[in-house]
Order: sequence, then C-alpha cells, then structure tokens
Amino acid sequence: MAVSTDTTHLADLYSALGKELDRAKDEKTYKYEVPLDGHQGGVVTVGGKKVVMLASNNYLGLANHPAIVAAARKGLDEYGFGLASVRFICGTQPLHRELEEKIAGFLGTEDTILFTSCWAANEGFFNAMLGTDLGYRDYRDIIYSDQLNHASIIDGVRLARIAVKTTDARAYKHNNVTQLSSWLDEDREKNYRFKIIATDGVFSMEGDTAPLPELLEVAHKHNAMLFVDESHSTGVLGKTGRGTPEELGVHGKIDVISGTLGKALGGAAGGFVTGRRSVVDFLRQKCRPYTFSNTLPPFIASAALAAIDLLERDNSLVEKLHFNTAYFRKQIVSLGFKILEGVHPIVPVMLGEAPVAMDMSKELLELGVYVRGLWYPVVPKGEARLRVQISAAHSTEDLDRALDAFEKAGKKLNVI
Ligand SMILES: Cc1ncc(COP(=O)(O)O)c(C=O)c1O
Repeated sequence: MAVSTDTTHLADLYSALGKELDRAKDEKTYKYEVPLDGHQGGVVTVGGKKVVMLASNNYLGLANHPAIVAAARKGLDEYGFGLASVRFICGTQPLHRELEEKIAGFLGTEDTILFTSCWAANEGFFNAMLGTDLGYRDYRDIIYSDQLNHASIIDGVRLARIAVKTTDARAYKHNNVTQLSSWLDEDREKNYRFKIIATDGVFSMEGDTAPLPELLEVAHKHNAMLFVDESHSTGVLGKTGRGTPEELGVHGKIDVISGTLGKALGGAAGGFVTGRRSVVDFLRQKCRPYTFSNTLPPFIASAALAAIDLLERDNSLVEKLHFNTAYFRKQIVSLGFKILEGVHPIVPVMLGEAPVAMDMSKELLELGVYVRGLWYPVVPKGEARLRVQISAAHSTEDLDRALDAFEKAGKKLNVI
C-alpha cells in the first residue's frame, strides 16, 4: 500500500513531534543507538572495531555463554518458538512451572509468577494487589516508594493511584529510613488497610543497595509489606548470587521480590514476582500484564533454568564478577577518578558537568571502551557521570585496557 502523500493530515502533530526531537538533539538529551556488529560480551564489535563493553547488564557474562545458548536451543527444539497465547488460556508448559519453582527455591520464597519483563511485573503488581476490596469496606491503602526507584515502579505506583482510587502514595528521600519511619508513624492514625514499602534492591544510577534490614524492621513494626526489585542484584550480589537480601543477611525474609531475566540471568528478556504462595496465586488471577499478555517464550524459560542451575552448582562466575568489580573499583580510584563507593558492578565515575561526561564517553569509544554517560535530567544537575558496569565476562586484560583508556582520556580532558 502506498504511503499517503497528503501533507495536511495531522501536519501539526507531526511538526510538533519533529520540533520536540530537534529540541532534544539541541539539548543533547536525544538518545542515539549504537549497533553492535555481533553478540553481547565482555568485548564487543562496533563498526568493525573491538571495544571493551562497560555498559551492559550482562553481569555474569551469560548473554552469550555456551551453556545458556545450548539451553535456549534445547528449549526451542523441545517446546517451539512461542505459545501464541496467555498463560491461563493455552500458554503454560512444564518448563514455565519448573522455572517458577526454581526461582522460588533460589530466592527463598514459596512461589513465583513469570512475566515477559520486569517492567510488566512492576507495572502490574501494585494495581493488582490493591485493586480489590477483599471484603473490606471504607478503606484506603498506601505505597511508600524510594525517590530513586526504577521507572517501572514509579509507573506501577502511578497506575495504582489512577486505577485504584483508594490508593495513596508517598515518595521518601533516597534510602532515608528515618523519613519513611516518621511518615509511617504520622500515617498511623489514618488506619490504612494495606501498606507497601517499595524499593529497588540496588539502584541503577548509583549502584548502591537499599538498607533492607532497616526497612524490614520498619515494615514489621508497622505491619507493612516490603517489596524489593532485585533486577540489578539477583545473580550479582551475595556470596552465591542470591542478591541484596543475601548480601545484607536477610535472605528469605523479604515479603515480595521482583526481578528480571534480562540482566544477570541470561540477558534476553523476562521478569518475575516471587513471594508467598497466596500473593503469587492472587497475581495469576488479577495481574493484568500476566492475564492479558503472552507467555514468556519457552526458549527463554529454558535458558533461565540453565542460568539458575549453573549458579546453584557453582558460584565461580559470581566470584569472578566480585573479583573484577573490586579490582576495577580499586584501580579507577588509584588513577584519581571519583566514584560512588560500594560493592556493586555498577561503578558511577563522577564527572560533574554533562559536557565532560559526553566528551569522556566519546574519547573512550575512540580508545576502544564502550561506556555510557548519564546527565541531567537522568541524574541531578552537576552529577553527570559515566556508568561503568563490570561483568564476569571481562578478563583482567580487558579491564586493564579499559583503565588505560580512562587514564588517557581523563588526562586529556583534565579530569584527573
Ligand atoms: C531496577 C529495574 N527494574 C526493572 C527493570 C525492567 O526490567 P526489564 O528489562 O525486565 O523490563 C529494570 C531495567 O532496566 C531495572 O533496572
């Protein structure tokens, strides 16, 4: 069919979109995509050139790991490409249930529900949990959310407030348990039916952890549910990769955990919510992105099963990731760069103003290092940074090559 040549139809709308895109380009907030020539890895090919990849969430290097690729192939051979359906109509295969039980076993919960992304999981969760009266009358619910939570939690909370008129929400200052606690005290007289405290386990721009033991204490004191998004932590933190709860000594104690299969656990796509059986079962009935959207493709479920199997059998990839992270963090500081301290493979290298971060990332790409800059409005003004992400797929030589490039670029731009 020929494309319409009528220039008047929707002309104002198209012109407004064009102006907005031009404005983003002028303000340097337009997002350009850089194609990788081949697969994801510790070293990738961009425009025919090998560069050290420091910008992916491929924490364990499973995105192109032979065991994971083989498991995906096996899933494809045994179960086909897709289900062409949602779970409850004709979209469940044994390996979906197997994966749900596997995730629950790994994270110390009772049961799990799969989604096609963690975005869908987070967006659906709050709406579903708070969207039914459950026999209560004249009630209100409240969600307390960390100000730096991921956009999918923010949108999930927004949706719940819009769709469920009985839901209130308050965003507490980042990791500020004192403020959260005082709000819960203050709100006591409002007699909320349900209270949910929602936090990322690891925050994606800062690489810092939520104070889970303190949040648990506050949650228990106020009979609130603690919801933790472990997207950047499962397979990453803790001695055996069981995430922030393991790292902070509260494994098995979090009420509800959401996570992704699109980062450490293979990197393709997929998400989950895991917790008490009653919560998971209830979500199967009420969570709209689960009920009205297609099943996770079987080859992804098969690969994710293999990823968790691998972690359960042997934690050498987790150890390698921890080793690489500690090595890079130490070396980059000794070069004179300022970073946000921590233990996570997200290492924010702080550069101050946006143009410096832009120039550094361009210079680094020239020198064979792929790293993305973040600046306002993604992070506060004056806190522009390069977000380095370390992987178990990096060899020490890869990291040394990257550090060498950082030193050269940093000196050239007078950053160090
Ligand atoms: C903390 C957090 N939650 C959720 C998501 C969304 O995960 P997915 O890619 O599975 O939708 C991300 C992805 O960037 C994330 O960083």
